[in-house]
Amino acid sequence: MNPNESLDGTLTGLRVVIDAGPTYEDIDPVRFLGNRSSGKMGFAVAEAAARAGAEVTLIAGPVALATPAGVARRVDVRSALQMHAAVMQAVQGADIFIATAAVADWRVAEYSARKIKKGARGTPVLELVENPDILAEVAARDPRPFVVGFAAETDHVAEHARAKLERKKLDLLAANHVNEEIGIGADDNALELIWPGGSETLPRASKSELAKTLVARIAAHYHARHGKPA
Ligand code: CTP
Repeated sequence: MNPNESLDGTLTGLRVVIDAGPTYEDIDPVRFLGNRSSGKMGFAVAEAAARAGAEVTLIAGPVALATPAGVARRVDVRSALQMHAAVMQAVQGADIFIATAAVADWRVAEYSARKIKKGARGTPVLELVENPDILAEVAARDPRPFVVGFAAETDHVAEHARAKLERKKLDLLAANHVNEEIGIGADDNALELIWPGGSETLPRASKSELAKTLVARIAAHYHARHGKPA
């Protein structure tokens, strides 16, 4: 982040909702489908937004992270359906929604209340059903907050990200360059910011530095839209 760029007060008076981390989709009482998201990026964004003066609600999937300083409210959830319900409630009247969570695309069609045993019935076949797309659903609301999405891409980052921005009708999309060293689960990240009128590369940095830059950009885009200086 440019050292002269200050976050102070750029989001004062605004309600910001952020979802973060993975979701776990339970199969039976001991097994689940999950993913490698650590929640670090979302928590760093929540901390930066709070530092910028926002009233932050953080909806967290299962992560081992302390609530960042200044976050007004934290709601812990486990599954995509729980995250969906918590976000839909929190975004009512919110000014900005930032979807950093790695929401599971699918859940099992039928949860088994008893542990599935090896043996007689052979190898189980899991039937999956699609989870709601929380980000697209928030973007389809009227009125809606300023909507920021994330995307994890391994190749053709800009093209895939722009297609996602348009498909989900987002105001801004932050695309992760995911490879073995950066992105999901790692401490560093790099982002390609895409919006309907342009794009910008935020070069590789620690997730907390990058989160500050991202929040400064979100504030600038939000205020440009609402006709106020950032
Ligand atoms: N997202 C969501 N609800 C889902 C799935 C995704 O809110 N059920 C949000 C994520 O929080 C993120 C963005 O949508 O902001 C990611 O979009 P997605 O279409 O899942 O992209 P990828 O994970 O990059 O997957 P794909 O490569 O399949 O497009």
